[in-house]
Amino acid sequence: MSVIPTLEDLEARVGDLSGKRVLVRTDFNVPLDHRDDGSVEILDDFRIRAALPTIEWLTGRGAWVVTASHLGRPEGEPTPKYSMAPVRTRLAELAPGVELLENLRFDPGETSNDAAFVDQLVEGIDAYVNDAFGASHRSHASIVGPPQRVPSAMGRLLQKEVDVLLGLRQKPKHPFVAVLGGAKISDKLGVIEALLETVDAIIIGGAMCFTFFAAQGKPIGKSLFELDMVDTCRDLLAKADATGKTIHLPDDITGTDADGNFAQFGSRLGDGSIGYDIGPGSAAAFTDVIMDARMVFWNGPMGMFEDERFESGTRTVAQAMADTKAFTVVGGGDSAAALAQFRLDDEVDHVSTGGGASLELLENGDMPGLEALRASSSA
Ligand code: 3PG
Repeated sequence: MSVIPTLEDLEARVGDLSGKRVLVRTDFNVPLDHRDDGSVEILDDFRIRAALPTIEWLTGRGAWVVTASHLGRPEGEPTPKYSMAPVRTRLAELAPGVELLENLRFDPGETSNDAAFVDQLVEGIDAYVNDAFGASHRSHASIVGPPQRVPSAMGRLLQKEVDVLLGLRQKPKHPFVAVLGGAKISDKLGVIEALLETVDAIIIGGAMCFTFFAAQGKPIGKSLFELDMVDTCRDLLAKADATGKTIHLPDDITGTDADGNFAQFGSRLGDGSIGYDIGPGSAAAFTDVIMDARMVFWNGPMGMFEDERFESGTRTVAQAMADTKAFTVVGGGDSAAALAQFRLDDEVDHVSTGGGASLELLENGDMPGLEALRASSSA
């Protein structure tokens, strides 16, 4: 596997960057609050701040930086709701003088990886930097196209994300524990199968535990589960058993009873009850596993943490991530949002800016955006 060019490699290839136009693909897909009065607030600017080391490295060398990102999924149509305007305002505060193009997904050529759209993007551009870790699992025009046309490199953020996440796969420290939550097992199946090769234990929380309960023949009341994944969960449990790995499932659950009242159960739920969070006993047991680990990867909340009645499991796991001496990595998306909500985001070793991207990199060990950059070094 040839190496991915860094910013230093780019400088060596292009020469003095002063006055050069550098297109930087960033992932500025930030959560927005559209208010009734028409104003828009950025709820979390983490992804914008995360691109600053690359932007500042380039502007520090006199380069003219043009950033470009997608925002939401506007499906190839200019859509006012997905305008980059609020991001542009925030970027101007953090990195004055840096350009930001309009939402790349306003053009259908972005997601279809259209060659003419790539031509348009690189027109007048001397070099390209991919710092959009969160979008590098997409074979979209702005991710895979420019490296075929102009000298290209990975930015500092992409480099750090790849180092950390591939480090989990390639240099695991044992015990290595993965904590997985969220609603759907089908979204995480590939990564669970890949992780079972490397980790010592997987902790399962969130609604996906009910599909595992169903596989064990336990009653789950009216809790969310995926009928078509029950056999798969049974196979995963058997595979873990056969390979000496542990899948930790909750043994108590918090939720609502048949009358809709807040209730706590064991791991067998009565008719009409619904589980919304892991229970306190499971949260304590999961904490012990995390405290004894040397490496922990967490993706997906343990329950419906947006509702304070059901945030306790996720909060306890987040606190264990902060307290453990293990090397801790949190995949982006909801688990990163939970950490931020509990103000624990500075207490872990790495919070990834990419949800889907971090799972895909852990699963496959590579991504289209990285392959494109590698090919560019030999172009
Ligand atoms: C994300 O939010 O995970 C990235 O920005 C990718 O967005 P997408 O799933 O719409 O491609």
